[in-house]
Amino acid sequence: MKVLVVGGGGREHAIIKKLKENKEIEKIYALPGNGGIAADAECVAIGAKDIDGIVDFAKNNDIGFAVVAPDDPLVLGAVDELEKLGIPCFGPEKKAAIIEGSKVFSKNLMKKYGIPTAAYEVFDDAAKALAYIETAPIPTVIKADGLALGKGVIIAMTREEASDAVRSIMEDKQFGDSGNQIVIEEFLEGPEVSVLSFTDGKTVVPMISSMDHKRALDGDKGLNTGGMGTIAPNPYYTPEVAERCMEEIFLPTINAMNAEGRTFKGCLYFGLMITKNGPKVIEYNCRFGDPETQVVLPLLESDLFEIMKHVAAGTLADAEVKFSSDSACCVVMASEGYPQKYQTGFEITMPADKNIYIAGAKLDGGKLLSGGGRVLGVTETAATLGEAIGKAYETVKTVNFENAFYRKDIGKKAMEV
Ligand code: AMP
Ligand code: GLY
Repeated sequence: MKVLVVGGGGREHAIIKKLKENKEIEKIYALPGNGGIAADAECVAIGAKDIDGIVDFAKNNDIGFAVVAPDDPLVLGAVDELEKLGIPCFGPEKKAAIIEGSKVFSKNLMKKYGIPTAAYEVFDDAAKALAYIETAPIPTVIKADGLALGKGVIIAMTREEASDAVRSIMEDKQFGDSGNQIVIEEFLEGPEVSVLSFTDGKTVVPMISSMDHKRALDGDKGLNTGGMGTIAPNPYYTPEVAERCMEEIFLPTINAMNAEGRTFKGCLYFGLMITKNGPKVIEYNCRFGDPETQVVLPLLESDLFEIMKHVAAGTLADAEVKFSSDSACCVVMASEGYPQKYQTGFEITMPADKNIYIAGAKLDGGKLLSGGGRVLGVTETAATLGEAIGKAYETVKTVNFENAFYRKDIGKKAMEV
């Protein structure tokens, strides 16, 4: 069977490497993929947001199954269009992807169905939002309603910062129409846990838990990034917390989406904070996390493609979903300067026999050149988290490109739990 994967980052590389373990798949196309993914799939220069291009390609290339990985095409309705061609897909339809596409939608859903989350107010008028901030508890959290490349959340430590955030989102339109509405919410404290889950709308199967490291610099300093590294499992996600999450968050969310006529099929990502009042939802994503996927899938012992087919068919209850008892660590190597200005185009040298997931790179005359802020992720697994971290940093030493930078403390906090 020919399989199409929409997307072109480290997450998609991890998905593609895992799919390749299935013998039924004869060919994988990545749209657009990247220079590193080209080693594992045929990359086609069609952007992940080019829904017409994706649909035309699928129509003309005898595609038997599609995996839509990034948020943008899901929110734009790529799955709806592919399903119209009769192609089974892994990923939610547009009406369910709204759970990530609109924070106002997801907050209102949680309120309506009693799913624990931060208290909040919604505003579509800057003056009213600014007036509210005058008396709001500080710190406060300002969120643009729509997609904003992961930058639409501002934790304001002062009223002035909060007002500046409101003005730049609502008046200066920093994130375009994504800022037509904003959510202002209560600041929560506690360790964060990412739980990706498989769901077909009837059954929900959580994957192994993980921990992202979002800040650019060691000690959780510096700017927010797309994620500088991950570990799995997350030690804060104890069996007791897992049980509460299933009862109070996972099942209620699946049921709420069904009740709204928005059945969710695919990977539903729960961004959780374990507060002293129990686990609460920080955010939902309608897709696999990046770089969470780069630690979660290497620990998946079952066949990913079989699971994805069951999700698409609505028979997830019949699928085997088994994770290893090992731990994993992924260290992201980025271009110095990321998430702001950085240079690219430097040759990457690396061992061929390691789990290295390429996020941003291009091929040039047979050479692999850095081509993004996040360039790649190095994943190692081992019986214990400490060993996995040690191995990952050993492998990082064997990967080279000019101006590479990475955090030295991925997993450190988890080791202290
Ligand atoms: P998001 O872009 O939704 O992933 O949010 C980015 C980060 O902002 C999260 O990973 C949290 O660390 C932080 N955050 C979001 N909402 C809150 C909140 N209500 N309280 C405290 N931190 C938050
Ligand atoms: N690593 C966070 C995300 O994928 O949104």
